[in-house]
Amino acid sequence: MLLILIVMSSILAAHSESVEEVFKSHGVVPDVIAEAPNQFLQVTYSNGLIAKDGVELTPTQVKDQPLVEWNPADVSDYYTLIMTDPDAPSRSKPTFREFKHWVVVNIPGNDVAKGEVLAGYVGSGPPKDTGLHRYVFLLYKQSRKLEFDEERVSNRSRKDRPKFSAAKFAEKYQLGQPIAGNLYQAQYDDYVPQLHKQLSET
Ligand SMILES: *[C@@H]1O[C@H](CO)[C@@H](O)[C@H](O)[C@H]1NC(C)=O
Repeated sequence: MLLILIVMSSILAAHSESVEEVFKSHGVVPDVIAEAPNQFLQVTYSNGLIAKDGVELTPTQVKDQPLVEWNPADVSDYYTLIMTDPDAPSRSKPTFREFKHWVVVNIPGNDVAKGEVLAGYVGSGPPKDTGLHRYVFLLYKQSRKLEFDEERVSNRSRKDRPKFSAAKFAEKYQLGQPIAGNLYQAQYDDYVPQLHKQLSET
């Protein structure tokens, strides 16, 4: 009986890890943001793989834009979704921190497809021998529909992607702290050269 209780409570404990614990244990706080959100974002890739808790996925598995879900408090609210890699070109020497992977703004409710794409989704392209990179998803709640004075960047361009800062972007548009987030990690695989070729337009 006692053993069952111990097993049960450790299973429950494993499932109740908070976003704050996950973000702190992976250094997302403080490398990307100062304060962790309190909700997990649900990020699902087309093959059913879920990007969460710093799990390792391969660049091949994340090449297509995932489904991102959350519960909006009110469907009349607008949200900003950011995916960013603080480990460019490597976690040990992040001289290009952060690499901007995806930015969608003015998302009505939780309908990402109806948002305005500032930077088209690009999957993971960690260079060879640079170890695991963290890919961090952040969701901000906007106070209202906003004008974003940024050049739109397609998924074929690396323009303005290096040296991005999610925190500075949020500050510029007064988005406050993120309300939800999650992350996965990835390292080089043989899909990466194809992704780098895709990003060859200026
Ligand atoms: C790039 O974006 C376009 C337009 O959104 C989309 O049709 C295409 O599938 C994307 N390509 C890749 C490789 O993700």
